[in-house]
Amino acid sequence: MNTFFITTPIYYANGEPHLGHAYTTTVADVLARYHRLMGHDVLFLTGMDEHGQKVELAARERNTSPQDFVDQMALAFRALWERLGISHDDFIRTTEGRHQHVVTEALQRVYDAGEIYSSDYEGWYSVYEEQFFTEKDLVDGKDPIGGREVVQLSEKNYFFKMSAYQEWLIDHIVAHPEFIQPVTRRNEILGFLRQPLGDLCISRPKARVAWGIPLPFDQDYVTYVWFDALLNYVTAAGYLSNEKAYSRWWPASCHLIGKDILTTHCVYWPTMLKAMGLPLPETIMAHGYWLVDAEKMGKSRGNAVEPLDLVESHGVDAFRYYLVREMTVGQDSTFTVESFQARYNGELANDLGNLVNRSIVMAERYVGGRLPVVDPLHPDLDPLRLRAEETASTIAQALPAYDTVAIVEAILSLVREANRFIEAKEPWALAKDETRRSDLETVIYGLGETLRQLALWLAPIMPEKSHAIWNQIGCEGDVANARKDALVWGGLPGGQSVRKMDPLFPKVDLEESATEESTEQTEEQGMAEESTTISFDEFQKLDLRVAIVKTAEKVEGADRLLKLQIDLGSEERQLVAGVAQHYEAESLVGRRIVVVANLEPATIRGVESQGMLLAASADGQLGLLAPDSDLPAGARVS
Ligand code: MSP
Repeated sequence: MNTFFITTPIYYANGEPHLGHAYTTTVADVLARYHRLMGHDVLFLTGMDEHGQKVELAARERNTSPQDFVDQMALAFRALWERLGISHDDFIRTTEGRHQHVVTEALQRVYDAGEIYSSDYEGWYSVYEEQFFTEKDLVDGKDPIGGREVVQLSEKNYFFKMSAYQEWLIDHIVAHPEFIQPVTRRNEILGFLRQPLGDLCISRPKARVAWGIPLPFDQDYVTYVWFDALLNYVTAAGYLSNEKAYSRWWPASCHLIGKDILTTHCVYWPTMLKAMGLPLPETIMAHGYWLVDAEKMGKSRGNAVEPLDLVESHGVDAFRYYLVREMTVGQDSTFTVESFQARYNGELANDLGNLVNRSIVMAERYVGGRLPVVDPLHPDLDPLRLRAEETASTIAQALPAYDTVAIVEAILSLVREANRFIEAKEPWALAKDETRRSDLETVIYGLGETLRQLALWLAPIMPEKSHAIWNQIGCEGDVANARKDALVWGGLPGGQSVRKMDPLFPKVDLEESATEESTEQTEEQGMAEESTTISFDEFQKLDLRVAIVKTAEKVEGADRLLKLQIDLGSEERQLVAGVAQHYEAESLVGRRIVVVANLEPATIRGVESQGMLLAASADGQLGLLAPDSDLPAGARVS
């Protein structure tokens, strides 16, 4: 299939956009961009859910009309998508004529087919919650949400015969494992469908809710907001308006949603489509929830960081990167400034940023700024070429599995391969030896081609930064317009000039930076008893450095802890180390030690520790690791 139609939920117009909305839309954007890179025809849809009581109330509270209110909200969402570099093809709003037309027609058709009936609905109504409850929902005769008064009410309403589709729906889910993903959500829905399925009330009397699409067969009622909203997906595909577009795009490839709206998408929507005689979407992919720990975001200290603030401080691409890097689609994650900064400093600034910077500087210094023309299949380049091919095949598998973490890791493994390649080839040594000129040129070309590959693979996640890499290696055009063919190893012609630019990921100091009272880093940490094998890649993630101790003092109230100020070459840092029972503080000053420089910062007994020193121990004895020559502070241990 050459088309890929991906949708986000259409967001309620009654609240401001936040991290959760940003996440779904960013993941959809990343997927859309990867599919475009693969040469697929993509339709990427997002939009606004603008009807219903909540919107009506929110507008009333602000003394404005519902239409003016939703117009404002749509602007706010659009502005966020602009800021986040979202490349949607369509932005649908349920108040648009094209959508009202589809809802009206769809209702009439389902009604004519005898699948909608009217009935008196009897139940306990909470005026405050504006919601019906059954007898058994009530808690002590009060509403189960806020414990308020309920009154017995009888109201005529219209119902969609959803119950008639229960067996059919179960069969469909069982026969199509790809339909509801991940499998935990599929099981959840199958579990839900083990209970008898009721019919769906699809109307609201205008007397109660006026802000909605009138039922075509009874003007005293408006359409229940979910029956209205779900239809947006076919409206945008061209249903009932553009037959050609509709047959091209429908059924959708993927409805990307949060787990909060699973039932509406996996039960209401398929049964509605079935009643309309339309095919079902291929996949409904439900991702997990971002939890934002107020404590960890500094709220209690009065210097709170909102997740979206990080777009301003660290740039939009770092924010997009973190979202798809940190959360496995389908699981929950906690958003913390600490992990954000650790990824920014470690993976982006150190690994990727340095690679780009070193490569460009070496091209300038050693080959006059012009990338050499070299046979891309030169055997010296095999490690890079093979790794690039592995990256490509991993991504090809991860993409249909919505595995954004695996995609990022495949890209990082190419970054690390290139950093290793530099260490192994030592271009600085080659540059001193005229007889090895062609070896040097091969190395510089290999790095240029690797940066080109990286720019292409990173473009869907980091459109701006990847374009900056693309420019630095002298490639023309917009990297976002590149397609599959460009991914073949050796696409860099050579001969073009590099253009050095500012660092891609400059250091950012967030005032309150990374302090975390609750991290369970103890004095014993780093003395693991059991040994497990790790891959070379995993080992490479450790940034081990030589440091020189500047000052050392005891941590008050902690027998075993010393607080050290260390020189890491490019910066000074503070460490807390559990060595006080083995070393006098003063005896450490001036000594060389080895530290893990990219460890997530932690606060130990109220003192911040930005790394960890390495020591060996046995039978109560302890020895600090140190190089056996006077290496400069910051020297890398590998
Ligand atoms: N209007 C309905 C959807 C109708 S679709 C036909 C709606 N809107 S919403 O504004 O509440 O958006 C819900 C969606 O926002 C979730 O499904 C999810 O995509 C996203 N998120 C909201 N909070 C979230 C988190 N805390 N974490 C991750 N995403 C969540 O429901």
